[in-house]
Amino acid sequence: MLLLKNARVVDYISGLDGEKDILINAGEIISISENITENAERIIDCKGLTAIPGLFDMHVHARDPGGLHKEDLLTCSEAAAAGGVTGFLCMPNTVPVIDNEETLNYLAEKAKTCKVKIYSSCAITKGQEGKEICDIGRLKKAANGNFCIAMTDDGRPVKSARVMGEAMIKAGDEKVLMISHCEDMDIAGGGLINAGIVSIKLGLWGLHRSSENIITSREISLARDLREKVHIAHVSTKEAVAEIRSAKAQGVGVTCEAAPHHYTLTEDKLYEKDADYRMNPPLRLRADIDAIIEGLRDGTIDCIATDHAPHTPDEKYYFHTAPNGVIGLETSLAVTLTFLVHTGKLSMFDIVRLMCVNPRKILGIFGIKGENGGSIAIGHTADITLFDPYEEWTVDTAQFKSKSRNSCFKGMKLKGRVKHTIVNGNVVYSFAP
Ligand code: DOR
Repeated sequence: MLLLKNARVVDYISGLDGEKDILINAGEIISISENITENAERIIDCKGLTAIPGLFDMHVHARDPGGLHKEDLLTCSEAAAAGGVTGFLCMPNTVPVIDNEETLNYLAEKAKTCKVKIYSSCAITKGQEGKEICDIGRLKKAANGNFCIAMTDDGRPVKSARVMGEAMIKAGDEKVLMISHCEDMDIAGGGLINAGIVSIKLGLWGLHRSSENIITSREISLARDLREKVHIAHVSTKEAVAEIRSAKAQGVGVTCEAAPHHYTLTEDKLYEKDADYRMNPPLRLRADIDAIIEGLRDGTIDCIATDHAPHTPDEKYYFHTAPNGVIGLETSLAVTLTFLVHTGKLSMFDIVRLMCVNPRKILGIFGIKGENGGSIAIGHTADITLFDPYEEWTVDTAQFKSKSRNSCFKGMKLKGRVKHTIVNGNVVYSFAP
């Protein structure tokens, strides 16, 4: 038995916000009350700490297989645990691409040795080439049928609207989530950073916002006409937020996510000509940040996902040729607390809704007994994140568990620090200064 004493428990589902003890037995929460005196094997004094359901990050590039110099499933799960993330969804742009049963089986086996709960998406199209749709009926059955729960060609879009529409229907039939990376490659045209004042001043080819907006509109249009569901990854423009808001109001089956860098940093960071500030979609403008924050507040944006995309320092060395992407598992909670909660823009309940409950609900894994958390309530699996909301620390990438260092929050002072991460009632991470 594990006993957590005197934590501020914040649970969005039950509406609980109060100081409680939590008793855990055999991986399950068995009691939540004011003064539990049970003789547990381990007792953690949680005075000053906040307990929320473990975070779930539905957008993670674990680079396994094929990119093990950047990250692997084990280091990725260590990074997740250090960030308070008790489960995540892998993206399929690996080598080989996750478009076959062998790779899914390999990952599922490896996932069993990891500290946190891992699920995978598979590609929409074979080799992510945009042509032949993967046999989702078969892939879904791989690894005992509870591992591959989404389809996406993330990293690139599906060029053909017809292929995307057919894939949406197949995903709907098989009840897996369709996730779209919205980018019109013809418009993007190899742009490096947001098309705007900074790209002009630096003389760089810009990634135009319409590249994201056009495909966001296309996916919404397909979901509406086909009466299917689509989840839009890493929303970064105010126009996309507005489009999704109005589609939701009309009952279209669209959900979406935003990444921490897109609600905190602007394109001005690119004046530093440091590739650790380059990702796709790129950092944009203050008006986009404001729209994303409003979307997070009013439910237009359903959840927060990091788009954790590890690349080595060598790969990130040359600003012009470095690959896109930033890591985020170890900073997502602290960044969100610092920029959105301590500034009064979001409440602690909002954090739980956006980082713990909704990602699981969107993926259809909320509260599956013995599988997943999502709520601090009796009978729920004990996947819990404990953090000090007021502790200040400076992001030192040398301390990261991830193999990579490409954080756009490096050197930043943040307020809020993960202290313990609990998965299935086991403490899988404790902060040691
Ligand atoms: O910045 C990004 N990096 N965006 C993506 O869509 C893919 C990702 C990666 O795999 O590195």
